[in-house]
Amino acid sequence: MNIVYLDHAATSRTKPECVYRAMDRFMREIGASPGRSAHAPGLAAGRVVADTRRAAAALFGVADPARVVFTLNCTQALNLALRGLARPGSDVVTTSVEHNSVMRPLTALARERGLNLVFAAADEEGMTRPGELAKRLTGRTSLIVMTHASNVTGAIQPIDEWGHLARERGVPFLVDAAQTAGCLPIDLSRLPVDLLAFSGHKGLLGPQGTGGLFIREGFDPEPLMHGGTGSASSEIAQPAWLPDRYESGTPNTPGLAGLGAAIGFLLERGVASVRERVCAVGEALAAGLAGLPRVRLYGPRGMDANVGIFAFTVDGADPAEVASALETRHGIMTRVGLQCAPCAHRAMGTFPSGTIRAGIGYGTTMADAETLVNALRVL
Ligand SMILES: Cc1ncc(COP(=O)(O)O)c(C=O)c1O
Repeated sequence: MNIVYLDHAATSRTKPECVYRAMDRFMREIGASPGRSAHAPGLAAGRVVADTRRAAAALFGVADPARVVFTLNCTQALNLALRGLARPGSDVVTTSVEHNSVMRPLTALARERGLNLVFAAADEEGMTRPGELAKRLTGRTSLIVMTHASNVTGAIQPIDEWGHLARERGVPFLVDAAQTAGCLPIDLSRLPVDLLAFSGHKGLLGPQGTGGLFIREGFDPEPLMHGGTGSASSEIAQPAWLPDRYESGTPNTPGLAGLGAAIGFLLERGVASVRERVCAVGEALAAGLAGLPRVRLYGPRGMDANVGIFAFTVDGADPAEVASALETRHGIMTRVGLQCAPCAHRAMGTFPSGTIRAGIGYGTTMADAETLVNALRVL
């Protein structure tokens, strides 16, 4: 039985061939630590990291690549930004659809620093309207954080409008782009976003263990970690400059080699053209699911408002049993349950059993969409 992988929202599984080659080449032919030693493989490793940083900056419209710092995943980037910027005793405004990689650090910070967490509500499709934000901002707000697209419903949030409001009020604006980096064009030369956290292993098509944070000039979060950077080694204080300020310890250089190749692939193809294909499959899948009387779909159906995530339940059936039947009988891999976003499910009324999530992405075909619809028809 062929595998139909519909869990791209967790991680993209099949990568472009160049990603495997770049990682293999790094491991076999370079293999040294970047930015530390002046020998040839060390310098070559440093170039790999620098090339990946330049590629990421180009993809996101960032003029100075040093403002893109690498992390092990989006969670680490979010922790860096949240811990680095949330002022003790202040308000932090967020939405009711955030992933636990935002909710848990905020909950911990509320306890440690006495933060007041303020939630802007989402509508039934998981969309948060900017009006919801405006009425929650006060003179005590030290940070606004929101996801670019819900990992539960796929709803693409109006970050442009939220960002303009944040600018007007002079409040730092952090965006969680875990679900959108590589899936939607993101141009930070135009968007009013101050910090943007991203995963390298989802829509960017890189390997697991990669991610990063864009930090706009003028923002200076406290580092999450201090340690060796290979630079200014005579000093025992952390370097003040980027990216070294935020990149202590040996990085995941094989992963960054793969991520660089993946981003190179996206730059060549164009995120917009990858998106066009995903949209065509998404529209067909939404129409197919909508035609099944027992299937209840949550979130936006139109791909203009959906990043490529389809959340559904089947009347009279336990979601976990449906997901298990899809895998064992049809080879279809989905993600069932709360998808690390309990608050989003509470808001949608699907807590605690959750939904079945079909996350499509690069490489998902019309045949994959048809297989899912046909499998649900005979369930
Ligand atoms: C919206 C959202 N934010 C953050 C994360 C965390 O990403 P990572 O696994 O790269 O830490 C995820 C992962 O699923 C996500 O969907």
